[in-house]
Amino acid sequence: MKTDTDRWLEEEAEAVLKEAGIREGQIVLDFGCGSGYYTIPAAKIVGDRGGIYALDKSRDSLNEVAKRAKPEKLNNILLIKTSGKSRIPLGDESVDVTLLYDVIHSYYFSATERKELLAEIYRISKPGALISVYPRHMNLEDVKDEMEKADFSFERRLFVTLLHDKALTRDYLLNFGRGRQ
Ligand SMILES: C[S@@+](CC[C@H](N)C(=O)[O-])C[C@H]1O[C@@H](n2cnc3c(N)ncnc32)[C@H](O)[C@@H]1O
Repeated sequence: MKTDTDRWLEEEAEAVLKEAGIREGQIVLDFGCGSGYYTIPAAKIVGDRGGIYALDKSRDSLNEVAKRAKPEKLNNILLIKTSGKSRIPLGDESVDVTLLYDVIHSYYFSATERKELLAEIYRISKPGALISVYPRHMNLEDVKDEMEKADFSFERRLFVTLLHDKALTRDYLLNFGRGRQ
């Protein structure tokens, strides 16, 4: 029997990510992708003309992403296993959208590490790129403040249904832009 979570993944996740701003043909970095709740629907949206970098420090999580991608016949996901350091192995100005979903909080990153990570995300983002943050476990104003200090500009706040720890929840996404300077 299908659970609410299965139904959300099959029927709603793409709409949520489209509302967040992901478009066909884009290059997306899903930083801290976990088991791929957002990677798979993002890959369906960008299609064969686009691509997803699914980056995580956990090999088990990346194996899970690969397992989920297979039956969907998705060939546009590149798995990137890192050591957990802030350095992102992608070129300058190469990404249209970065997802930071439930990952930049203090459980994983100190304030200093977060600053280093945001500088890396700035470097790999194309001018005009979107950075969409699911600031779970964080104060929204603190996230805004840190993102703005990293030279991203706040664009909008969305209140949507999301998947967190295998359960559906209504929560905020914060969208930021990487300026063109
Ligand atoms: C709470 S999960 C969120 C997963 C996914 N973004 C989601 O919202 O469903 C956080 C993920 O970030 C990964 N992670 C944490 N710190 C990381 C780092 N420094 N570099 C890469 N991945 C990291 C963890 O391994 C974990 O898979």
